[in-house]
Amino acid sequence: MFDIISKQLIAPAVWRQTIKAPEIAGKRQAGNFVIIRPKVGSERIPLTIVSSDNQRGTIDIIFQVVGATTMDLAEVESVQDILGPLGHPTHIANFGRTAVVGGGVGIAPLLPIAQALKQAGSRLTTILGARSKAFLILEEDMAPISDQLLIATDDGSKGQKGLVTEILKPLLEEKKIDFVLAIGPVVMMKAVSELTRPYGVKTMVSLNPLMIDGTGMCGVCRCKIEGQTKFACVDGPEFDGHQVDFENLTRRLAMYKSEENQRREARK
Ligand code: NAD
Ligand code: FES
Repeated sequence: MFDIISKQLIAPAVWRQTIKAPEIAGKRQAGNFVIIRPKVGSERIPLTIVSSDNQRGTIDIIFQVVGATTMDLAEVESVQDILGPLGHPTHIANFGRTAVVGGGVGIAPLLPIAQALKQAGSRLTTILGARSKAFLILEEDMAPISDQLLIATDDGSKGQKGLVTEILKPLLEEKKIDFVLAIGPVVMMKAVSELTRPYGVKTMVSLNPLMIDGTGMCGVCRCKIEGQTKFACVDGPEFDGHQVDFENLTRRLAMYKSEENQRREARK
């Protein structure tokens, strides 16, 4: 069992938890994730490691309560299983004028990567999008590492009213961006990738398919990248957004929706 040291509600239904997991904390790099099973009988879900503290032997995760498993995770005091760190660490370098684009809960996995890119010398334009001011997370962590921080909310309650792509577009038109990393809902990552394609700006996205084993054995996380099958857990989770088949990912994410809804209703 892995003890949850602290829990904090950082936005409606969005939790940050600090979990004692010294072996994972010691090995974790930016972009790594873990697969968590909150308790016996829960499903296994992948979550990016947002931060780690090697001395305390802890890792931080951030998740939104959407189904039975995340309901379990929000309630338990210790976690049954954590497997990790998993996935390729992000390729970190000085990419020059870099736009890091985060949407909703996707800002959580973006943070450690943005921190590492900044440390490597990249000049960061950070674009954060949320439904409203209340749903905007980690602004206070993103601000100090950003050369420029731009915010979009769907309802205009903070920053510019609209989508992250509406902020990114003029920057691309003015040739102010060399590299983009986008993490958020699939529709957002698709929209960002379609926007950057005609400008020839390299765009990486972090995919969030369903996962079970996290070791390349079960095939549940398979994605189509440039027509080839890849496993997000061992080949990703980051891929070139211009090569991702987002329709395939959307279809696969919806495959078990009715079972997920049944479990959620039974769990209530
Ligand atoms: P959301 O739906 O509130 O969207 C967040 C922001 O993304 C919006 O405010 C907007 O700026 C942008 N966006 C949304 N749709 C867009 C579009 N069509 N074009 C351009 N921009 C768009 O986000 P949420 O509810 O917090 O997100 C939850 C989703 O994010 C879940 O589906 C979850 O699986 C996914 N997620 C993905 C990752 C990942 O690693 N890719 C990590 C965490 C969560
Ligand atoms: Fe099983 Fe990736 S989660 S192959």
